Amino acid sequence: MKTYRIAAIAGDGIGREVTPAAVSVLDAAAAPAGVRFEWQPFPWGSQHYLEHGRMMPENALDLLRPFDAILFGAVGDPRIQDNVTLNGLLLPIRRGFDQYACVRPAILYPGVRGPLAGRNGGDIDFVVIRENTEGEYAQIGGAAHRDGPHEVAIQTAVFTRHGTERVIRFAFDLARRRNRKRLLTSVTKSNAQGFSMTFWDRVFAEVAREYPDIRTESLLVDAACMDLVRRPVDFDVIVASNLFGDILTDLSAAVTGSLGLAPSANLNPERKFPSLFEPVHGSAPDIVGKGIANPLATMLAGAMMLEFLGEANAAANVDRAVRGVLSDGSAVTPDLGGAGTTRGVTEAVLSRL
Ligand SMILES: NC(=O)c1ccc[n+]([C@@H]2O[C@H](COP(=O)([O-])OP(=O)(O)OC[C@H]3O[C@@H](n4cnc5c(N)ncnc54)[C@H](O)[C@@H]3O)[C@@H](O)[C@H]2O)c1
Repeated sequence: MKTYRIAAIAGDGIGREVTPAAVSVLDAAAAPAGVRFEWQPFPWGSQHYLEHGRMMPENALDLLRPFDAILFGAVGDPRIQDNVTLNGLLLPIRRGFDQYACVRPAILYPGVRGPLAGRNGGDIDFVVIRENTEGEYAQIGGAAHRDGPHEVAIQTAVFTRHGTERVIRFAFDLARRRNRKRLLTSVTKSNAQGFSMTFWDRVFAEVAREYPDIRTESLLVDAACMDLVRRPVDFDVIVASNLFGDILTDLSAAVTGSLGLAPSANLNPERKFPSLFEPVHGSAPDIVGKGIANPLATMLAGAMMLEFLGEANAAANVDRAVRGVLSDGSAVTPDLGGAGTTRGVTEAVLSRL
């Protein structure tokens, strides 16, 4: 049996509820495909911060480096500023392991009633590729004269040729591999951001010349928001900067039914470092402890992990079971209009494996 060592960071809030649910499903889906996991839980997150003053130990990346992959729940706690929790846990892992391609599929599954009239299960199926290591989240800037009338805050976005080119190339390759509409949409704001975004446009046009078989379009981010609602069926692969990709993927999760269904892979495509798989959603303090968090996004993130590890059969097992539960509809959680619980959904998925 092929064995993979996976670091499991459940993190905060509902991350602690959906991660164990996904672990049980991944174990069950992997076994018939001749795969097993050795899970190593890491109790990092806001509780760790309150006890030790850090979200994770100083040598956390050294501890994580030997693993085949990382399964992540969520981060965020109302008692601590969000920039402290995010910058103390998730962002250092994404940057430190050069997980530059954040892959976020948006699928309206059969059985799921999305918020858009006239869109049925199977209609919407696209992927957003978000640049994950630089751009607007580069953490470069400063502040001065705090709380005074002359207070100033400067946050700099960083776009390098290396970083921009590789994520755009990754997106073109994906459009080719998917072999659906063979369309790549680049999202910028070049009318207002005349340095960084026109640079992105130029690199996009250059790389596009290497992919004559892929059609391209460029949208301003405001128009893209409108079009994701107005004509989501037209998209295939979308590539965007760190900030725009972040925003667009909450929107794409909403038009495909629920944040509770949206998975995400933070990939180091060269496999020099472990990649990280997580739901798009956060720690959802408003529902934590109620037992109603939808675990399907984390399970689907686990399926993306299996796919990336080269275990397509095990990944397909998860996908099939999740689709079965969604099209049946009787077990789903309140975010999908049901009365189900995290445990009930997990049992329903397990029973199909
Ligand atoms: N990757 C991450 O870990 C991540 C992502 C986004 C936000 N956050 C953090 O999470 C905290 C809460 O942020 P937020 O409320 O803006 O975003 P959120 O994603 O936690 O929640 C947004 C809304 O969606 C619902 N929701 C989210 N996941 C769900 C699920 N699996 N099942 C059912 N409903 C679900 C929540 O109940 C809430 O109403 C903040 O501290 C924020 O910084 C973390």
